[in-house]
Amino acid sequence: MKIKNICCIGAGYVGGPTMAVIALKCPEIKITVVDANKDKINKWNSSNLDDIPVFEPGLKEIISKTRNKNLFFSKDIDKAIEDAEIIFMAVNTPTKEEGEGAGMATDLKYIESCAKDIARVSKGNKIVVEKSTLPVRTAEKIKEILSLSKNNCKFEVISNPEFLAEGTAINDLFKSDRVLIGGEQSQSGKNAVKKLVEIYKRWIPEHKILTVNVWSAELSKLASNAMLAQRISSINSLSALCEATGAEIDEVSSAVGRDHRIGSYFLKVSPGFGGSCFQKDILNLVYLSKFYGLHEVAEYWHQVIKINDYQRLRIVEKIVLFINKNKLSKEVSILGWSFKKDTNDSRESSSIYVAYELLKLDFKISVYDPKVNPERIIEDIKNLNNKRKKLNPNIIETNINICSNLNYIKKPKNIAVIMTEWEEFKNLENLGDKIFLLDFRNFIDKEKTTIRF
Ligand code: NAD
Ligand code: UGA
Repeated sequence: MKIKNICCIGAGYVGGPTMAVIALKCPEIKITVVDANKDKINKWNSSNLDDIPVFEPGLKEIISKTRNKNLFFSKDIDKAIEDAEIIFMAVNTPTKEEGEGAGMATDLKYIESCAKDIARVSKGNKIVVEKSTLPVRTAEKIKEILSLSKNNCKFEVISNPEFLAEGTAINDLFKSDRVLIGGEQSQSGKNAVKKLVEIYKRWIPEHKILTVNVWSAELSKLASNAMLAQRISSINSLSALCEATGAEIDEVSSAVGRDHRIGSYFLKVSPGFGGSCFQKDILNLVYLSKFYGLHEVAEYWHQVIKINDYQRLRIVEKIVLFINKNKLSKEVSILGWSFKKDTNDSRESSSIYVAYELLKLDFKISVYDPKVNPERIIEDIKNLNNKRKKLNPNIIETNINICSNLNYIKKPKNIAVIMTEWEEFKNLENLGDKIFLLDFRNFIDKEKTTIRF
């Protein structure tokens, strides 16, 4: 039987774009995306497409073609679950903040709550898909919860982790390197996997659709993120050595990346990786390794995060040294708040950590970002302060000035630090020598930059 109805729980950076692309490619399937956050659903339904909650190049064009045709954003979670044959769970899986494994393990409360809703509401058999990134063997827990369903329904749990990167999500979804589907080896497990394969086959070549066992799919997602982040920490660690020896990190990166066995991706020096996933997924891997008594493995992966923290602190030190050397006042403009260009997402952005350290040192900071909204910027600092409690809450708003354009940084003797590689920061060479530009992304041509990292 062909799939006619899909539900996705979680209308975030994964649920929204992923379902939009499935809706575009499978116009005969009705897709309903639901979320516990009603305000978010209202925004997805906004008539002004600039107000949808996720900014991704190409997304609003797809939404305009599919929304209210075969793609729906709804607050009625129960109805969407009841009607669907396949349910994707694309809810957030943050690091636990309290209880056993706090600071390391993944908090599964949102996934568990989805599974409880599915068990409570379902009247017929369903395929439940793990789209969120989860610790290995979570499918077992989900099955346990689903088995509490009172209506004698049968559930197949399959793992289909998402590999899209923000800023390029639509292109990544159109042309995925691979689609990974993990299922049980039973006949019903194989049938469920086949149904999902049929959907992806509509636009992904079959040789790129890998079917594996559930645990391999769950672990492959964590492993992919850990290995990408490991490359960034490797190059960032070498940037410190370059500065000590006179080598040029971009030259080293380019020379190393030319070896086709190594490759050039994810070797760009940066102020540390950000984003909601790399850190939490590596911490999850560290926790799992410790849980299984693999302490050397845990320590190996933990080092990737330690180097990332070290890189952020090194940047703060460089700014302070620069200011002292040039006898400047303690004022800095931060250019870019999102964790990378082409997204309005600032989760775990290095800008937050660098700004926080500067505020601790009594700096006044101005922030400009083309897409992150001002309330979010203040909220990010407040959230970090709730954890670290090193700042007097009163100074947060008085010492941060959020700018709506780049004019502010044109003040003579201003220090502007490029934290995110937004295209519009590439044209800053016209500012002349009145301002000091510190390019922590090393993305402006050498000759054009006043000061380089
Ligand atoms: P997000 O925070 O943007 O969205 C998650 C949404 O789920 C939120 O809107 C939240 O309100 C909703 N939600 C939580 N519990 C719910 C419940 N019980 N019922 C209904 N709605 C609920 O998160 P995201 O960035 O989309 O990430 C989702 C998952 O995908 C995570 O596991 C993440 O690791 C993984 N992932 C993210 C990316 C990415 O680029 N952001 C890429 C690949 C994988
Ligand atoms: C990353 C992965 O690339 C996706 O495959 C994965 O699906 C996703 O995490 C996830 O699970 O959430 P994302 O975090 O959106 O995607 O963006 P990336 O392009 O990976 O960048 C992450 C961070 O690394 C950014 O702060 C970026 O600036 C930084 N980075 C990236 C570097 O510092 N150097 C590089 O060479 C590349």
